[in-house]
Formats: sequence, C-alpha cells, structure tokens
Amino acid sequence: RFERLWLVAALVLIVLFIGTVTYGAVGAGYGMVDATGGQVDPTAPTAGDNFREPGVYDGSERGRYDVYVEAKQFLFVPGTSEPIRVPDDSTVTFHVTSTDVVHGFEVVGTNVNTMAVPGQVATVTVEFDEPGTYGLVCNEYCGSGHHTMEGQLRVV
Ligand code: CUA
Repeated sequence: RFERLWLVAALVLIVLFIGTVTYGAVGAGYGMVDATGGQVDPTAPTAGDNFREPGVYDGSERGRYDVYVEAKQFLFVPGTSEPIRVPDDSTVTFHVTSTDVVHGFEVVGTNVNTMAVPGQVATVTVEFDEPGTYGLVCNEYCGSGHHTMEGQLRVV
C-alpha cells in the first residue's frame, strides 16, 4: 500500500538532490571557462580608449616609457614573439589589458605582477637601473596553453 508512496518520495528527493548539485555547479557561476574561452562573450569590450596600440612609447619626460601590452591566449603582445625592449636607466609604466580571458602579467624579478582583465587596463611602474633580461609569465590560469604563456623583456 504505502510502498508506492515511499518510492515516489524517494524519487522526488533524488531529483531534488541532483537539482541542487547542478545549480551549485552551474547556476551559481562556478562553471569552468573552457580552454577556447567558451563562456567569454566575443563582443565584450576589449580595452577602453585609454589603451593605445600595443608597443613601447616614449614618455613625456626623459627616461620615462610607457609600454602597452595585450595579453591573449597564449601570448603577450609585445613580449612573446618579440621581446619588449626598453633602455637602461629608465622608468617604465606598463599598461596591461586582455582581449579574451583573465591573464596574469608578471615581470619576473621585479615588482610588476598584475592581472590582465578584459575591458580593464592595469597600470604598474618599475625602474630599471641595469641592463638585463627578464622573463614574462602569465600567473592566472587561462586555458590549456596557460603554462606556455610567456615572453621576454630586455633592458638594453
Ligand atoms: Cu594567460 Cu595563463
């Protein structure tokens, strides 16, 4: 008599559990962004108007430079295919943005270590007082090629 009722009640509970778990994983926004940036809106704004073309620019003062860097899966532009070159004895302000997902931008061995967020520009300044070569690394997991995302900065 009651067996059927219990069976139905148990089934309802199971469905509720599955629903809760599914909601927790997907609905609450913890879904993984896949390696191709599946959840990223391709129409999302990239950088604002205050972001110039990627590259190294002479600053307004002597010895000051502005470097505009674009991070994208899985490159720094400039930095990866050709090194960023800045002169020795300089003060360099990096302006860093991303055109796809969140990346990191670290100049190894300096205080430059920031996130690169789509639609935002991170700004960080560092002084270089001797020539050298620095590695650039991405330290935010950004997809299957994250571990290959690196570049170089040369102070010459
Ligand atoms: Cu870009 Cu990790």
